[in-house]
Amino acid sequence: MPISPLPRADFYRELLGHERFAEIEEFFVLSLITSAIRVNTLKASFKRDWFKWAEWYGWELSRPVPFCPTAAEVIAFYTSPGRTLEHADGYYFVQDAASTLPVELFDDHPSPLVLDMAAAPGGKTTHLITRYEDRGLVLANDSSARRLGALQANLQRWSGFGTLVTNFPGERFGRWYPETFDRVLLDAPCSGETLWPETGGRGRSVSERERARLCTRQITLLSAAIEALKVGGEVVYVTCTMAPEENEAVLEELLERYPKAVEIVSPPKRVKVKAPALPRAQGRRFSRQVRRAVRLWPYLYETSGLFAARIRKTAPVPTEPEAPPSRPWKIAPLKREEEVRLLANLQDVFGFALAPILEARELTLWAQERTVYAVPQRAVELFGELPHRSAGLMLGRWQGDVFLPSRALITRYLEQFQAPRLTLDEQQVRRWLKGSDLRGVTLPNGAGPVVLCMDQYGSFVGRAKVLHNRLRNLLPRHMVGRTLYPTALERDE
Ligand SMILES: C[S@@+](CC[C@H](N)C(=O)[O-])C[C@H]1O[C@@H](n2cnc3c(N)ncnc32)[C@H](O)[C@@H]1O
Repeated sequence: MPISPLPRADFYRELLGHERFAEIEEFFVLSLITSAIRVNTLKASFKRDWFKWAEWYGWELSRPVPFCPTAAEVIAFYTSPGRTLEHADGYYFVQDAASTLPVELFDDHPSPLVLDMAAAPGGKTTHLITRYEDRGLVLANDSSARRLGALQANLQRWSGFGTLVTNFPGERFGRWYPETFDRVLLDAPCSGETLWPETGGRGRSVSERERARLCTRQITLLSAAIEALKVGGEVVYVTCTMAPEENEAVLEELLERYPKAVEIVSPPKRVKVKAPALPRAQGRRFSRQVRRAVRLWPYLYETSGLFAARIRKTAPVPTEPEAPPSRPWKIAPLKREEEVRLLANLQDVFGFALAPILEARELTLWAQERTVYAVPQRAVELFGELPHRSAGLMLGRWQGDVFLPSRALITRYLEQFQAPRLTLDEQQVRRWLKGSDLRGVTLPNGAGPVVLCMDQYGSFVGRAKVLHNRLRNLLPRHMVGRTLYPTALERDE
């Protein structure tokens, strides 16, 4: 028998049967790689924009993701979905199709308080924000300080207001905030046996000791998630491994720990997925409830392997509450006169009315030096003393007398920035995206000290400071030279 590229090949072959296992091995031979593109519905429309981008960027062989109505998969592309201006500005997120399932499992709620216990780099956090139309508050936590930068960058690009980013072991939240959250997502650290070429741990698996440690951490984190959840609320437990020890067996242990307080429930009817969990594995039978979890074997939908269970809390569980740590925030509330000056500046220079948005979304303004943030009032009331990495959305910075709105704010409310804009031709856009200033450009009538630059297709390209002999390019450094801009010919094809 040829050597399999998969971890624990003999184990999975026996579990699945030769035929199914051979199908999964075939994906490795084909090196099948697909990307799902999940649209940020805060600032784009799946129906209108996805297909427009597919045409512009030559995304081929696309197919809808059956369990996520705002995502579709791309199997071949001319311009990589990760290299476009729209990606840089968070109009969509690129992830494996399987990863779009867990957040869809949650029930509807008008404005839930959500804990995302292991959130970095934030793929599922961005999904939580749009799933609840940015009307909820998501406490996005991860124990790894190193991974928080990517999480914060992804959240800023996504343009949601309702987030608070913290850096604690997730285990603490059960005692710190018992029966507090309406939804808890636990995307648990795991062995990563996805059985999929792109993500899937070719060959090597974790040692049995490592796996035992992972299982202990998974059950501890899951118990903390249940403690932190309100009665009637839902936890979604997720792993990106096919290992039964880290999936069905963890659920079984949870049921033994809380036999009268938790129930595993089937996916909601609107989520089109047929992928039951295992009834038995490794000589062990699992409860009937456990079968309601979703086990996405790669051969089912040609995705990376993923396991997800929707768990409801039906009664309180015993907890020994502990006071959470407390430290005054580094940002300070904006004084009334500073707020008035900021609102007037945005109106005068950009024709943008921020006040109605602050009111409708119950946001308050905070600042650290010259940078201003919009933070949900609810985050201040509930977590006003909790040490955190960031809160809400960065709205922009004062540069001299002008308040420079962030790209995240502009792209979310583009239609409402009503000051005259400047349209750049293709060559100018290319130079702009390389970071060059522009000279000899005719400004639109009524242009202020900073103008918004667009391309011929109505996409936002950047902010320009008007100097006497040129337009200064305010493209953020991390975006310079990073995006591919298709020619008109490529777009029309
Ligand atoms: C599967 S990844 C999360 C991926 C993320 N949810 C997403 O969709 O982008 C697991 C995460 O768990 C974090 N982690 C590991 N142990 C943890 C703990 N005890 N508490 C909180 N986070 C933990 C890791 O740093 C890692 O970022």
